[in-house]
Amino acid sequence: MDLKGRNFLTLKDYSPAEIQYLLDLAADLKEKKKKGIPVDIHRGKNVALIFEKTSTRTRCAFETAAHDLGMGTTYLEPASSQIGKKESIADTARVLGRMYEGIEYRGFGQEIVEELAKYAGVPVWNGLTNEYHPTQMLADLLTIKEHFGKLGGIRLVYMGDARYNMGNSLMVACSKMGLDFVACAPQKYFPDQKLVEQCREYAKESGSAITLTEDVKAGTKGADVIYTDVWVSMGEPDQVWEERIRELTPYKVTKAVMDNAGPQAIFLHCLPAFHDLKTTIGKEMNGRFGIEDMEVTDEVFESARSKVFDEAENRMHTIKAVMAATLGE
Ligand code: CP
Ligand code: NVA
Repeated sequence: MDLKGRNFLTLKDYSPAEIQYLLDLAADLKEKKKKGIPVDIHRGKNVALIFEKTSTRTRCAFETAAHDLGMGTTYLEPASSQIGKKESIADTARVLGRMYEGIEYRGFGQEIVEELAKYAGVPVWNGLTNEYHPTQMLADLLTIKEHFGKLGGIRLVYMGDARYNMGNSLMVACSKMGLDFVACAPQKYFPDQKLVEQCREYAKESGSAITLTEDVKAGTKGADVIYTDVWVSMGEPDQVWEERIRELTPYKVTKAVMDNAGPQAIFLHCLPAFHDLKTTIGKEMNGRFGIEDMEVTDEVFESARSKVFDEAENRMHTIKAVMAATLGE
């Protein structure tokens, strides 16, 4: 499998065999890391990490993975570069492409990361846009594979705002890799119809199914993976909190939801998660709405069924696989 020179912008651009290759490579790199076997195959190279939105996992995963591969990194934070303010994406891409062997971008519209990729002349990796979060998908798939020993036939239910990066990406990832995908949310939070149709085509190939439902009991019955995400994503206005809390509270992941799914079910979340009052926003929402948690209860988050920290660790191994495979000689 030769992925050298390829961008990694959305899993729509990758075949199931290519995705499987990246997952196998990540598993191999993970094993080597645990055994202390060096994998610095890209020694002497450098990568630029552009973050127009904040990050803990994605940034740290790119930095540690790049260092393990023998590379140097430059982190460009929202306030510290000229991007967009004084210099266009196309110009930025052409400058960074002369200095770096690869570029990660986290920001707003998918068209921005596509523009960057068009002009950079080196591989560009999507570290999250409003529409997609493809590196998160590899970590999620690896975690599911590690836990269940397979991907095909697994039923994953996404609860919450299924129209945004996580709902979209999970629907693409599941339909490509043969997992049944269920979006369990109020109808207005269902993924875009055009993307649903495209994913139904992938599902036909992989033998999986896509279901959109407002019914929590029927939707989560028999699920292997219950997945949720924050109700208000980065870059969204503060005014939406009240509406989201009101409309999505019936779709909170509770013990009753996990029990309804069955004893086999695990809980996943891309993180960060609002499951207690130990964050500034958590405290603020407690003051405004009297709530103790949001998308998931602390009980579920802290339970043995919660695999969120295995999932977070896998961000690093999978991002390492993406860089290892797509960077040139
Ligand atoms: N899951 C994820 O992308 O986390 P960060 O926002 O911390 O990078
Ligand atoms: N939907 C979330 C994902 C964070 C990893 C956001 O975009 O903020």
